[in-house]
Order: sequence, then structure tokens, then C-alpha cells
Amino acid sequence: MRILLVGGGGRENAIGEALVRAGAELYVVSKHRNPGLARLTKGYGIANETDVEKVLSYAEKFGVDMAFIGPEAPLERGIVDTFEEAGIPAVGPNREAAKLETDKAFARAFMQRNEIPGRKAFRVFDDVSEMRSWVDDFGKPVVVKPIGLTGGKGVKVVGHQLRDNNEAKAYAEDLIRRDGKVLVEERTDGVEFTFQVFTDGKRVIPMPLAQDYPHAYENDEGPITGGMGSYSCSNGLLPFVTKDDYEKAFETLKATVAAIKKEGAPYKGILYGQFMLSKEGPVLIEYNVRFGDPEAMNVLPLLRTSLVEIAEGIVDGNLRKAEFEGKATVVKYLAPRGYPVNPVRGVKIEVDEKAIAETGARLYYASIDENLTLLGSRAIAVVGIAENLEEAEGIARSAIKHVRGELFYRRDVGTRESVERRIRVMRKLGRKLEPNPC
Ligand code: GLY
Repeated sequence: MRILLVGGGGRENAIGEALVRAGAELYVVSKHRNPGLARLTKGYGIANETDVEKVLSYAEKFGVDMAFIGPEAPLERGIVDTFEEAGIPAVGPNREAAKLETDKAFARAFMQRNEIPGRKAFRVFDDVSEMRSWVDDFGKPVVVKPIGLTGGKGVKVVGHQLRDNNEAKAYAEDLIRRDGKVLVEERTDGVEFTFQVFTDGKRVIPMPLAQDYPHAYENDEGPITGGMGSYSCSNGLLPFVTKDDYEKAFETLKATVAAIKKEGAPYKGILYGQFMLSKEGPVLIEYNVRFGDPEAMNVLPLLRTSLVEIAEGIVDGNLRKAEFEGKATVVKYLAPRGYPVNPVRGVKIEVDEKAIAETGARLYYASIDENLTLLGSRAIAVVGIAENLEEAEGIARSAIKHVRGELFYRRDVGTRESVERRIRVMRKLGRKLEPNPC
């Protein structure tokens, strides 16, 4: 099976590796030549992933049987529709179904009209004075979100990036003036987690839960990034997520797939629910219509089922199973100094791949070229995999020493202390939790 993978980050390096492991003949198109993917492919095309026609021309040149879309931006441009019209099935939702991520107002209204569990109070405004009076009447702290894709950087929360609801109103006003619309939601307190599933439009198959560390610096400080690392536990849950919470979150994703099918835009691909575990249970913060980055690197190395078979099942509407090894994982990303605000670029780094392999860690490349020159975003990830979290974290930590250059990383990703901080947040909200089983 000849498969074209679209995208060149750490997430795509993990997808490409899983496809090759399953016997695929891999081709890649991305903005830069990812050094990890370059060694796995039979052909590499350089193009902006949102230039759908150019990506299609590479697919036709390589004669691929199928495409696998990594990032959200080409999904927003309707890459799956274009490929299907050209007779090439693609893993990922079509443009309409991708609105679950690319149009946040659509996603909230969709949840509301279909009574999807895990909803929260929200309003979409195009009028400044209506927005201001709603926020005043609402009284409780809010979250302000741009409607479209922001790369995780435009969402602002009262108590974090915004001091109070007055600052929230000012920011929402700016967004109305800039974009014509804004989404204002109730703030939900708790701890966030990632729930990714495969779906062929009918069947929904879960992957192990993961937890992302979006802040740039340790102790969850600093600006929001694409994610500085993530961990998962051997039982597929997280130390603060009970089986009951898991079932409720799974219900949200299953109800979403059923409802979008009923509405006539069946969803095929990977659906990622970003949940906040609140005092009352899981609340959906947002949908993503692709694998998480870094979370793909937690789950894909554990995948026992062939990713090629899963991809075929997704596009044929015949998805059967996805089984995962019961191990803990810790992903730590190395990013250029100054990322995400003012990252170092154009500087070379050193990677001792042999020494990293000796630690037992996996290595995935991201925003870095084949000369190991930094391109400005998250550059390299190491992944520790073991029976328990402590061992997995130790493996990732020992691997990271073998990467040298103008980089930084979060030492606290997956450490006992940082996990216990999250457990304490849930206990403060009145949750009774067993000692950390991860
Ligand atoms: N790690 C967050 C995301 O992939 O959107």
C-alpha cells in the first residue's frame, strides 16, 4: 500500500513510523524535509500543506493509494474532499466535518442542538454591546476564543491570560473588530486531558488517554505553546481520571460521531476531545480533528494493530479494532530558546542518535531540517516507554542529555511531582482519588 503522509512535525514522524512498521510504502509532503521522515520515505515533496492542489499533484506523481493527513490546516482547506474527487481516499474529515475544530462557533452550536454531553454555557457575538451586557449578566469568569484556527494561541481565560471579566470584554471587543465574531464561554475549572479516537463514521475506537503540558515553562508557567510534552499511563486512564469519567468522555465522542453522521457530514479519521475534568465530570473544551502533537507520540508507539489496516478501515467504513500495549509513556519536546514568542532560528544543534537509542528512548524530529538547523518551532521529541510512569520519565530524561544546542525543555513533564499537583487540584475540587496508579 502506497500512502502519502501530509505534514512534517513530530506527530507526523510518529504516524509515518507506524505506517512503515505496518508495511506501508511511505511518501511525504510537508513544508520542510523532516529528517526522521526523510529516511522512511520513497519520495518527499516540499509544499505548503495548505496548498491542496500542489499536494494532490505530488500524490498523483507518486501514484499513492491513500493519503493520511496530519495537521488541521489542510483539513480546513478541504484536502480530503479534493483527494476524494481525484479518486484518492484520505484519512481525515472532509471540510464540513472538520468544522468541529476549524469553526468553534459551529462546534458549540452543534453540541447544543444535538444535546451532546459535556457541554458548557457559551454565546457567539458579533455585537460589542450585546457581548458586554451578556458577560456582565453572566457574572462568572469567562473564556474568550477566536472562532477560527489559532494554533492554540488565541484562547484567553480569566484568571490566566486575562485578569478579570473586564479584560475579557476588552479582548472580546478586539476580536469582534478584527474577525467580526467572537465566542465567549463559561470558564470550567479542573484538569485537562486528551482523549483521541479512531472512527470510520460509525464505529468509534478509543486510544489511551494522554495529558499535554501546553505551557512553555515548568510548573505550568509562561506562554501557551503547541505542547511541550505529554504522558500516558499503562492502564489507558490518567491518575485523576476514573473509569466513570472515562466512560462519560467516551460518550461525548461517540455521541458526536453519531450526531454528525445524522446531520449528513459523516466524520472519518481521528477525533481528539480536549476535556476539562471538572468537579461534575468531563466537559469538552474543544474538538480537534486530527492527532494531537505531542499526544500522537504517546499512543502510536504502543499501537499493536497495523495502522495501515486502521487507515483502510477508516476510509472503507469498516474499522474493526485498535489495540495498544499497556505501557506508560512520557514525551518531552525540545524547542528553540525563546519559543514560542521569539525563537532562535537558523542555528545548528547536535543529536547523538546512537546514544539516544542506547537509552531505549524513541526519537522524533519536528521543526528542524536535514542539517539539524532549527526552523523556529518545536524541534525534537524523545519518548520514554516503560511499565510505569517513573521509568518512562527516566528514559526520556536520560535521552534528552544527548541533544545539544540552543534548546530548552520542561523537566517536569511526567514527573511524580507534576502529576501529584494535578491530583491535588482535583482533590481540592472535592474529588476522592486513589493514590497515583500510573
Ligand atoms: N497538543 C495539543 C494539540 O495537538 O492541539
